[in-house]
Amino acid sequence: MANIETIQLHIDEPRLLTELKTLATFTDIEPSNNGTAVTRVVFSPDDLRARAWLKCLAAAEGFTLREDSVGNTFFRWPGSEPDLPAVATGSHTDAIPHAGMYDGTVGVLGGLEAMRSLKRSGFLPRRSIELILFTSEEPTRFGIGCLGSRLLSGTLDPNRADTLPDLRPEKDEATLATVRAAAGFTGPLASIRLPANHYHAWVELHIEQGPLLERESIPLGLVTDIAAPAGYRFTLTGLGGHAGALLMPDRRDALCAAAELILSIERHALATGVIDTVATVGTCDVHPGAVNSVPSRVVLQLDIRDTDPARRESVMQAVRRDCDTLRQRRNITITEDLVNADSPAQSSPHILQLLEAICTQQGVPYKKMVSRAYHDSLFMARIAPIAMIFIPCRNGVSHRPDEYAAPADIALGAHILASVLGKLASE
Ligand code: GLV
Ligand code: MN
Ligand code: MN
Repeated sequence: MANIETIQLHIDEPRLLTELKTLATFTDIEPSNNGTAVTRVVFSPDDLRARAWLKCLAAAEGFTLREDSVGNTFFRWPGSEPDLPAVATGSHTDAIPHAGMYDGTVGVLGGLEAMRSLKRSGFLPRRSIELILFTSEEPTRFGIGCLGSRLLSGTLDPNRADTLPDLRPEKDEATLATVRAAAGFTGPLASIRLPANHYHAWVELHIEQGPLLERESIPLGLVTDIAAPAGYRFTLTGLGGHAGALLMPDRRDALCAAAELILSIERHALATGVIDTVATVGTCDVHPGAVNSVPSRVVLQLDIRDTDPARRESVMQAVRRDCDTLRQRRNITITEDLVNADSPAQSSPHILQLLEAICTQQGVPYKKMVSRAYHDSLFMARIAPIAMIFIPCRNGVSHRPDEYAAPADIALGAHILASVLGKLASE
């Protein structure tokens, strides 16, 4: 039997690139000038078409298919000892509005190619190897990131999850429960959770989404830690009225208050003096949203992250103090709803050691680094030993149509992934 020490792995780079480009054509928006702008919101027609296409690719390899009730999709290559905890890889294929074509997809298609390359080499895994496509890593539709991996790891209450409102403006009354049912995913969300010994290991390949690898001309990052994200929703309610007739001294303009709140968040995030603190208000819904009407209500979504959750919380405390002042000075109400406040995750020293040994043996320079972006790995870490492999992306750009990763870097990432999956599946 071909073992991991003797096989020759070969990544089919042209095929992987073609598949990435094909996946990018499943987009909810018209291709833009540069042809790579992708919007693939979870459970949209294009998300469902992309899933169907991926299922065909995996079926062609003979991998078995399982889908859970939120649409997490598992493609399994059974090992010679199929009852042992499996080794898993994967990522997500949903994409935020006007995204690029590499975020998440490199981990899914790169994971598929890694498995195919192991198969082509004649390798027979002892443990099963599984590719997972996680549902809704992006928070676009339901306001919370990593929906699928949160449910799988028992991090999100299934009852709460089903009531999450669909934030797409045209879907007023919809919730996760109704949207997933319409997409064909039924059954209780409580059935998704997997126990802590279900997986032997999880390794995710992803673009860095930051500038460090490219800046330092290093082709590979080995993630040691994933920063801790939190999400909050602020609702500011003032007094609406006619933009011409409501006199300035009488105003309680919710959008003016929101502007102050946004700047307070920026000020306090900067004030930590640490580059690991980042805070973003990425959406601002203004009611009633008419040019000649004073805004009466504004809803802001805040995304705040830090490697140190205590420091993240200290920023929130400072923001809350400013909210108190704002309420009094502008005579408005401000309510704060917690969406999520997560802990950071650490990679498994054992998988990191394996990866370092593989890189050294193959002469691949690498850098150990922190992931400031979140990933499904953050939640997989709660039930399995994890690690992540980063590849460079041009100018550190991500969540933009001009996101780009070089084919050779993608292929190298898939190659290192295949090597470590092979080793882990032999344990
Ligand atoms: C993932 O998309 C993130 O926002 O970190
Ligand atoms: Mn993303
Ligand atoms: Mn991603």
